[in-house]
Amino acid sequence: MIEKQTSHTQSSGSINDLSLHKASVVLTGDRPTGKLHLGHYVGSLVSRLELQKEHAQIILIADTQALTDNANNPAKVSANISEVLLDYLAVGINPGTNTIFLQSHVPELFEIAAYLSNLVTLARLERNPTVKEEIKQKGFERRIPVGFLTYPISQAADIVAFRTTHVPVGDDQLPMLELCNEIVDTFNRTYNTDVLKRCVPILSECSRLPGLDGKAKMSKSLGNAIYLADTNEEIARKVSRMYTDPKHLRVEDPGHLEGNVVFDYLDHFDKDQVGLRELKENYTRGGVPDSLVKRRLANSLIDLIEPIRRRREELQRDPAYLEQVLREGTERARTVATDTLREIRDAIGINRF
Ligand code: TRP
Repeated sequence: MIEKQTSHTQSSGSINDLSLHKASVVLTGDRPTGKLHLGHYVGSLVSRLELQKEHAQIILIADTQALTDNANNPAKVSANISEVLLDYLAVGINPGTNTIFLQSHVPELFEIAAYLSNLVTLARLERNPTVKEEIKQKGFERRIPVGFLTYPISQAADIVAFRTTHVPVGDDQLPMLELCNEIVDTFNRTYNTDVLKRCVPILSECSRLPGLDGKAKMSKSLGNAIYLADTNEEIARKVSRMYTDPKHLRVEDPGHLEGNVVFDYLDHFDKDQVGLRELKENYTRGGVPDSLVKRRLANSLIDLIEPIRRRREELQRDPAYLEQVLREGTERARTVATDTLREIRDAIGINRF
């Protein structure tokens, strides 16, 4: 599931790696801009479930970061906080052992970000490939909100505030961690201290599930996603519209597996891999209708998602519980961030009163 990544200056961790010992602090986060989908499931939720068997994790719902490109749509961000929380709990993330918290309610993070921002140049921010890509996608052109351009600094604050040692991420987040570590080094050098700690990425092996339309990424904005909240009917309908092999016009024609998204998904989600191998042989030989392959995929996805959706619906009926989970997690997070902030102010030498 988790692979070692060696092309970066720092070595990356792995769930089974001994470097991830008891003292490790693992932190991840999601922007609450939509419900979580299968891409999130294979890209991050599965690793969190695996990781929680051994480690407490800090999981942040990054509502303030979501506002950096949704300033005029706070209602969307606010509504999706509960959706993301529901998704976490429904897949089985344990709020007792892990700390799930709301970024906007830990103001210490923003004071930390302010101090860190003095150590980063504008040119450095403009070089971030993920941010560059997002600027293009969102059509900001030259009208880039300052808060958006600087969100990687705020993200570095999220990471250092909890003395994070490991950050499970998709590869699009590697530039953020690289910047974070640069900031850590600059801070420690500038203030002659060692209070800030470097972090290591944990890369998920299959960090990217293609969209239903075969596009590189499953995403809400591309409209090519299956959500953990989708009903069985929605799942079946979405699967029935997926691309298969464009050359497979008649049932008797030999089918191709390459670029055939339905089979890519079956590789991920079919529990009976022996049966799948047989199906692939028959499909490439000819005589297997696409509808049969799609039904098999729909069933696999329903087996996975239906129990999650049912738990989601159950939890949704108990908003007081959800509120309590978020409040308690946020209180715990705030205690740690306050402590780090004090150390940071001490290191800079601005603690007067
Ligand atoms: N940028 C991340 C995303 O878009 C969310 C995030 C915010 C995050 N703060 C973080 C991820 C800290 C890891 C660590 O998904």
